[in-house]
Amino acid sequence: MIVKKIEDALNKQINAEFYSSFLYLSMSADFASKNFDGFANWFGIQAKEEYEHAIKVYSNIIERGGKVILAEIAAPKTAWKTALEAFEEVYAHERKMTGMIYNLMDMAREEKDYATEEMLRWFVNEQVEEESNTLKIVEQLKMIGDSKGSLFQIDHRLSKRGEKK
Ligand SMILES: [Fe+2]
Ligand SMILES: [Fe+2]
Repeated sequence: MIVKKIEDALNKQINAEFYSSFLYLSMSADFASKNFDGFANWFGIQAKEEYEHAIKVYSNIIERGGKVILAEIAAPKTAWKTALEAFEEVYAHERKMTGMIYNLMDMAREEKDYATEEMLRWFVNEQVEEESNTLKIVEQLKMIGDSKGSLFQIDHRLSKRGEKK
């Protein structure tokens, strides 16, 4: 069984992961419309991963005998001026998500919900990876400044990102 307090918090997390997916899909659409196919690819894969995160929490609630409640997903922004602006937002968003995971972890420990703690450990590690990957791109985009050539090089590199096995 799962206590109500944790069930409610995990349902909120499902919504936050779906929102992340929505946000990144919106970025993907925006960059695709501007012919940055590599950025669009990167954001698109990121969106799929966030959807998978939502399903991970969803499955966990069900497995623990809880009830999944799906709520409205807020509409994301639809346009970003530059790739740097978008990636800075991704990085800030991921840091916020890390904070949410840590809060959940605190709650799971308080409630001695070791099963939830175990599931959250996966998310803790995932957040380390996501923060580090996105920060690296932010820093590279800052480094290239206004160089169009370098921007297209980064776009080309991000076109190579494949889905996680
Ligand atoms: Fe996530
Ligand atoms: Fe994420």
